[in-house]
Amino acid sequence: MKRRDQELLITDLIRALGTSLKNRGLYPASHPLVRTPVEKVHKNLLLFFADLTELVLVITDGTLVFEGVPIFNLNSSLESFMERLARIGLPVVIFEKGITPGDIDSFVRFLHETKEQGLSASRIQELLDKAGIAHIRVKPIEDDEEDDQTVAHEIYDNAVSVVVSVLRDVRLGRIPSGAETERVVKDISSMLTRNRDAMVALTLIKNYDEYTYNHSVNVAVLSLSLADALKLSSQDKIDVGVAGLLHDIGKTQLALDLIRKPSTLTPEEFEEIKKHPEEGFVLLGKMSNIRPASAYMVREHHMRFDRTGYPRPEPEYPLNPNSNIIPVADCYDALTTMRSYQRARFPQQALEVMGKIAGRSLDPEVMQVFAKTMGAYPVGTMVRLSTMEIGVVSGQGEPGRGAQKVVVLFDRNGDPLSRPEQVDLGETDGATKKPRRTILGTVNPQFHPSASTGALFSALAPA
Ligand SMILES: [Fe+2]
Ligand SMILES: [Fe+2]
Repeated sequence: MKRRDQELLITDLIRALGTSLKNRGLYPASHPLVRTPVEKVHKNLLLFFADLTELVLVITDGTLVFEGVPIFNLNSSLESFMERLARIGLPVVIFEKGITPGDIDSFVRFLHETKEQGLSASRIQELLDKAGIAHIRVKPIEDDEEDDQTVAHEIYDNAVSVVVSVLRDVRLGRIPSGAETERVVKDISSMLTRNRDAMVALTLIKNYDEYTYNHSVNVAVLSLSLADALKLSSQDKIDVGVAGLLHDIGKTQLALDLIRKPSTLTPEEFEEIKKHPEEGFVLLGKMSNIRPASAYMVREHHMRFDRTGYPRPEPEYPLNPNSNIIPVADCYDALTTMRSYQRARFPQQALEVMGKIAGRSLDPEVMQVFAKTMGAYPVGTMVRLSTMEIGVVSGQGEPGRGAQKVVVLFDRNGDPLSRPEQVDLGETDGATKKPRRTILGTVNPQFHPSASTGALFSALAPA
């Protein structure tokens, strides 16, 4: 069935439901003016069930939505019917195959008799069950945010598997294509536009066994976020993201025990490590679908802002204009990750350390923009609220607005909540019109070891 026909059928069906409901107030239930429209609804539903097993209608702000697209051509009496449904609290209504005119009739009776407003979906479902209505279910409108977290997670996991496969190919002596890399970079970039917090929060989930892969994805996410803040063109952003994802690809050419060595490197070993940017540059140069800009950014990611890094550039060597982005992202991810030789720093501490090396190893202007986008309380910072609750910042909202969302982990007495609760700092008290909660300051997470940031985000973000 074409969308246009489906819309007509749905409009017709809703109109018949509305008529039956209206007439029920005027005539007995057995009256043809009540019954005939019910049969019409049933007939229309049967047409749908030739192709579908259920018809899902979403009512949001008085608008009817079918398969994600609103149906706008409702006349005013239909609109008032929709408003009535919305007032009761009906969110998503699902008509299932097998429905009988009796179910529809009982549903109309339910609508007619229900005087309460703003019922929860679970309460409505309870009432429908009690009224013996089969084949009509309701459920709450899915939380967009939860949805974003799921999508962000999928994109992140997908990026990890692309890195795994590219690095494996290289280790086996094959030259992989860069097409997949470019695709995941585009996915990350569009997710950042849709919900930056959901994407950036994932960089805090540190998987120490898979450090190389997660580090690559984290650097790509953070570099892309920075590229956004620096207002780079979309092509430049992709080049930065691709370079971020593959910045350490040259390490595949080094001995594994050297990369994984837990203790300090000897000067000879460090000389070996210093080869990875140039090795990476050579590898990227051989790969298809990789632009030269990305290859240069990989070569230059350890040259440092003051050019005292490696490979040591000639004084006149012109760096790629965007080569100052990855070092910032690389540094932040390394500092906030626990390694065998270092304790993980908390986001705010990492920004402080980076502030001190800006001007020497990091570009101070880029660093400033980075600190601004991360905010005074970056996502992942543990904070005490004015309610004396303790939580972790989980969202910044618009960059530069400061922390907006906090996941509360401990109540005012310091007792852990059984289920962490996300609160919005923009929420105001009805009476005083003042924010319910503000951030008093940071808390040292070491005093709350049960609430590691990684565990927190794993608990929040769906697997
Ligand atoms: Fe590196
Ligand atoms: Fe790195």
